[in-house]
Amino acid sequence: MMEQKSFSYKNHRLGAVTEGKWIDLLEVLPSDPHPTYFYNLHSVKNRIDQLKASLGGLQSKIHYAVKANAHPHILEMVRQQGCGVDTVSLGEMLHSLEHGFNPKDIILSGVGKSKKELTQSLLLGIKQINVESLSELKRLGEIASVYQRECRFGIRLNPDIQVDTHPYISTGFRENKFGLPEKQIPEVLEIVKQYSPWLKWQGLSVHIGSQIRDVEPLLQAAKALVRVRHNLTFYDQDITSLDIGGGVGIDYKSADETAELEMLKAYGKGLQNIFSDFKGEILLEPGRFLVARAGVLVTQVEYIKNNGFKNFIVVDSGMNHLLRPSLYQAYHRILPLNENAKAKKNIFDVVGPICESSDVLGYERYLPEPQEGDWLAVMDVGAYGYSMSSDYNMHDKPHEICLL
Ligand code: LLP
Repeated sequence: MMEQKSFSYKNHRLGAVTEGKWIDLLEVLPSDPHPTYFYNLHSVKNRIDQLKASLGGLQSKIHYAVKANAHPHILEMVRQQGCGVDTVSLGEMLHSLEHGFNPKDIILSGVGKSKKELTQSLLLGIKQINVESLSELKRLGEIASVYQRECRFGIRLNPDIQVDTHPYISTGFRENKFGLPEKQIPEVLEIVKQYSPWLKWQGLSVHIGSQIRDVEPLLQAAKALVRVRHNLTFYDQDITSLDIGGGVGIDYKSADETAELEMLKAYGKGLQNIFSDFKGEILLEPGRFLVARAGVLVTQVEYIKNNGFKNFIVVDSGMNHLLRPSLYQAYHRILPLNENAKAKKNIFDVVGPICESSDVLGYERYLPEPQEGDWLAVMDVGAYGYSMSSDYNMHDKPHEICLL
């Protein structure tokens, strides 16, 4: 597959690459300067097309993970491409409904669903509730019996697969709080019987973690779904939807998207093989893969500082606007909006204004020495950027601007 770029330089200026156009970011900055997320909607559409192409003829539906980025225009773009959503709270469900999704396009996941969230999902008639524990299933059974409504649910399995990602975003290992182990399936069947006819078990799901760069564990999880589904046929339990979750990662260290697109291709091929005999619907819940590359966070240089030990570029945005580097030691490329080829280069820590030493957007970056007032872009922040931002230290939240 061809390498695709969402943002690139032209005449030393960083811009968004959209259909047939190149938009200079310096030209579209807000008049009142403030840290701003720019999203390239064209890039989101491209990613959806690439994901669909990788799946070939597999009967499948993409349910975009809203938690990655809930901007209304992104949701609209996702919806226009025929995708549904994966949500993890009443807030995300109502937000998705408000932005045009039907209840039948919505999946609800999450390990701690409240009575209110389960009741609302049932009354709205959403597509599937992915249940994560026996106690949650009992709660759902109680609610469905009280309202005398059929409740379509899936069981999220914990397949006990370890993945090579940050431990905070690994979710399919036996020590993680997510999903339930296969050995509890007899109890699931008991609970379904107990609340008959209200609990309709239609699906199995997995989500083993995020920012996964190796297809093998992802395919292993998909195989676990097929195996468990097969075993359930011996109990006359017909499962019609298999949900493989999200998790496909990107190459944050590089502007070159070739490697991640190759991985997508291998993933798609693997899924087509694994599910070749399955007649139902495959559900996917990608977040990062669809939107990470589509976003940059643009921030202005406040000060250049040398403390006799290190050089710092102090910018007006930090862990309050982009938590990933502080929370997961995540690496994001940092680039000047205006590339001054003549400026001498030096090594800097790029740090924010927040009163915490972990408020570092990038350690030891070799950058052309900027001036106060220059702009820098933190790259590949379309996923889990704004959605994890806060007003910590009572700074304003960042702005968001969509480009098409
Ligand atoms: N489905 C479920 C049930 C999930 O919990 C998640 C993400 C996804 C799908 C989408 O996963 P993705 O395709 O985006 O990997 N804040 C972290 C990532 C947390 C992911 C949480 N769950 C980060 O910034 O890296």
